[in-house]
Amino acid sequence: MQGQERMCQEVADFFKSVQSVKKGTSIAGLYGIPGQGKTTLAKAFCNFKMGDFEGKVCHLEFSRGDSFERTKLALQYLTRCPQLILQTLTDRDQAQVELYRRLKGQRVLLVLDNVTEESIDEVTDYLKEELGENSCILLSARSVDVLEMHFKIGKRSCMRVPRLEEDEAIEILLEKAPIDVSTMGAEEKAFAVKCADRFLFEEVGRRGQTFHPLALKAFGGHLFSKYGPHLSKWAGEIEGWINRSSYGLDDLLAVLGKAFDSTRPEYRTIFMLLTLYMPTRMSPHKVTEWLAMVLNKEISFIEKAVSLNICF
Ligand SMILES: Nc1ncnc2c1ncn2[C@@H]1O[C@H](COP(=O)(O)OP(=O)(O)O)[C@@H](O)[C@H]1O
Ligand SMILES: [Mg+2]
Repeated sequence: MQGQERMCQEVADFFKSVQSVKKGTSIAGLYGIPGQGKTTLAKAFCNFKMGDFEGKVCHLEFSRGDSFERTKLALQYLTRCPQLILQTLTDRDQAQVELYRRLKGQRVLLVLDNVTEESIDEVTDYLKEELGENSCILLSARSVDVLEMHFKIGKRSCMRVPRLEEDEAIEILLEKAPIDVSTMGAEEKAFAVKCADRFLFEEVGRRGQTFHPLALKAFGGHLFSKYGPHLSKWAGEIEGWINRSSYGLDDLLAVLGKAFDSTRPEYRTIFMLLTLYMPTRMSPHKVTEWLAMVLNKEISFIEKAVSLNICF
């Protein structure tokens, strides 16, 4: 993972400043659009804090698996519940009772990754656990609105996924290629920068631009398989994309598939329009108007979709 130490330290520092402390447990949110590195960072943070929490750390992913399996994982990692007992549990309710009993007073780090509207009840159960003093719970979601609206985590207790630096972005782009970034010549470096910069995007409500790691990784792999380690050719291809008025489906679907899958069905058309056909250099206000016109929808519906950060 690029920027691992720096980003984990940022999350740790954020926890120190967090206002949302319930019965001695600090609760913080981490948000960013799909593919921006929430899961990667959340898992790295668990490792980073492993010693501090004496191994009692657990990462639970809410986009897959079932609630019973998750409760058993929490029992296993947070309470060191023996396998023999885990095997006797027959359903989630039973596991939940066991978890509540064993978790009481334990100082733990729990990551609830990828929480959505669909997981409110289950996540809320975890937030109600009576944990030991100075425990930490980190929730990740695709937007701050999801964290605030559904899980009551105030905006000030939520942080965005930290930004990648340019050198880190280049490392991710060239991950598949046998190129040593540290010894790269000036000309090659310039091509690499040009390519990486193509994967900068603007986030709603944040100044400046941010690299998108999943896009860097996916396109890096694609460009390497097409052109080998010849960065001038990579840059040439990328130049072609910029000059094209809309992107080809083939180029984008690999990257977009994941984001698309996790976009709410009612907003999928908007997602596709924004990512594949959005006219370049349009102001956000004009984009909203344009989408409302194309889709024959109310502007408020479009604004809601865009505010949920479904686009990049
Ligand atoms: N800091 C990073 N360094 C290297 N690769 C990263 C980094 N962040 C994300 N990635 C890569 O980008 C992809 C998407 O990251 P992921 O953590 O799954 O995003 P999210 O959980 O926000 O959807 C993964 O393949 C991951 O390996
Ligand atoms: Mg994720």
